[in-house]
Amino acid sequence: MNPHRKGLQILSKVAGIILAAGKGTRMNSPLPKVLHRVCGVPMVSLVGQAMRDAGVICPVVVYGHGGDQVLWSLGKDYNFVLQAEQKGTGHATLVALTALAGFEGPVLIAPGDTPLLTSKAFREMLTVSAGFDCVVGTMRIDNPNGYGRVVRDSMGVPIKIVEELDATDEERSISEVNTSIYCFDSSMLNKLLPTLKPNNAKGEIYLTDLVAEIIAFGGKTVAYEFEDPSEVLGVNDQLQLAEAGVLLRARILRSHAVAGVTFVDPSSTFIGPHVRIGEGTIIEPMTMLEGECSIGKRCNIGPMTKISNSEIGDEVQILMSHVNRAKVGNECRVGPYANLRPKTVLFEKSRIGNFVEVKNSEIGCGTSVSHLTYIGDAEIGENSNIGAGTITCNYDGFEKHRTEIGSNTFIGSNSTLVAPLKIGDGTMTAAGSVITTDVPDDSLAVGRARQENKDGWAKRWRQGKKQKTE
Ligand code: UD1
Ligand code: CA
Repeated sequence: MNPHRKGLQILSKVAGIILAAGKGTRMNSPLPKVLHRVCGVPMVSLVGQAMRDAGVICPVVVYGHGGDQVLWSLGKDYNFVLQAEQKGTGHATLVALTALAGFEGPVLIAPGDTPLLTSKAFREMLTVSAGFDCVVGTMRIDNPNGYGRVVRDSMGVPIKIVEELDATDEERSISEVNTSIYCFDSSMLNKLLPTLKPNNAKGEIYLTDLVAEIIAFGGKTVAYEFEDPSEVLGVNDQLQLAEAGVLLRARILRSHAVAGVTFVDPSSTFIGPHVRIGEGTIIEPMTMLEGECSIGKRCNIGPMTKISNSEIGDEVQILMSHVNRAKVGNECRVGPYANLRPKTVLFEKSRIGNFVEVKNSEIGCGTSVSHLTYIGDAEIGENSNIGAGTITCNYDGFEKHRTEIGSNTFIGSNSTLVAPLKIGDGTMTAAGSVITTDVPDDSLAVGRARQENKDGWAKRWRQGKKQKTE
C-alpha cells in the first residue's frame, strides 16, 4: 500500500471502495473476472472511472483472486488492499477500511463487475445520502432470482436485505433487489462493520447485513432506485460480458451521435469509452477507435480503419488504414492501406498514401509520401515529395539509425536511403538511387549505374533465336 495514496484519499470529500476480490468461476477464464474487457477497457477500470468522475480521488480496490494482475492493470490512480481470503462482501469492505483510516464522509461502494455504472448514478446517490447513514442502490426486476431482496417497512424505509438462500417464501416474492451499490456514512461503517457475524447459509460476512444493523442502531437508511436495470448489469459469465459490450457500445455511439458525429453504420462501428470525436466528423463503416483517442472536427474516418491511442486533428481523412500511437495534424490525408505506427507525427496537410508504413518519424507540413514506402526513424521537412517505393534503411541488424530529409526535396522513386543519413533542403535524388552519404542542400544525388543503350541488340538476339528453331 502506498502511504501517499492514503493522503490523497483523505483530501477527497468522497471515498470509494470497489469490491473485486472474487474469483468469477463462471467466466471459465484464467483472467481475474474484473479484468475482462468491455469496449476494450477492464470492467474494474470502468467502475473506477465512474467513481473518479463522481469525485472519488483515489478509489480503494479490494483485490484477491488474480493478485497483482489487478494492480498492474489499474495503476497509480487507485489504492489497493489485499483480501487474502474471500470471507464475504462485509469482510471485503472491512479490509478496505484499513486504507480509509482518518477519512470522514460518504463512502461509495460498488462491485468491480458492473461495467455499465455511470458517474451520474454515483453523484445522485451522493446527493440522496445527505442526512442518511446508508443509501442502498436497488432495482425492480421481473426475475429476482439470485439477488438479495430489499425489505421495506410500511413507510417505505429499507430495513434489511435478505439473501436468496436465507429468505422466506414471502421475502423471495419481493421484486426489488439489492444492486450491491451503496453509499454509507464512514462512521457507520467504522462502528458497525466490525460487529457483523457470519450468520447465514453461506457462513460469510455479508455487507448486506449492515442495513438491518444500522436500523437497529437507530440510523437512517434510504433506497436509490435504478430506473434502468441495464446500468447495474452484473457480469458473471462470458455471455453477460458480451451483452455488456453491446449495451456500452450503443451508449457510447449515442453520446457521440447526439454531439454531432455521423455514424454511417453503427452496427459495424466500435468506439471505446476514452475516445473524443469532434462535431461534423463522419465515421464510415467497419471502423474501430480504441484507447485514448481524440479525433478532430469535420474528419472523415474509415471505412475499415482502426485507430488506437492517437491524436487526430481537424478535417483529416483516413481511409482503410491502421493508426497506432500516432499524431496526425489538421487536413492530413491518410490511406488507403497506410500503417502509421507508434511515434509517427504528421504535420498539417501532409499526405500518406497507399501501402506506406511510417514509424517513429516526423513528416513536415505539406509533405507527400504517396505510394509503397517505408519511413522509419526519420524526420522530413516541409513540402517535400517522397517518390513511390522509397525505403529508409534504418536498421543494420543491431541498431536503428536516423534519416533526416530537408524541406522542398524531391526524393526519386525507388530511392534506397541508407541511414544514418542527412539529405539537405532543396535536394533531389535520382530515381532508383542507393544513397549512402549525406547530400548537401540544393544538389542532385545520383547513386546508380549509368544506363547504356546497345543499338539493334534486341533485334539481333531475336533473329538468332528464330534461326535456331527453324
Ligand atoms: C451480492 C449481494 C446481493 C446482491 C448482489 C447484486 C451480498 C452478501 N450480496 O451478491 O444482495 O443482490 O450482490 O449483484 O453482498 N467480493 C469480494 N470479497 C469477498 C466476496 C465478494 O471482494 O469476500 C466481491 C466480488 O468480487 C464481487 C462483489 O464482491 O465483485 C459481490 O460479491 P458476489 O459474491 O458476487 O455477491 P453476490 O452473491 O452476487
Ligand atoms: Ca455477483
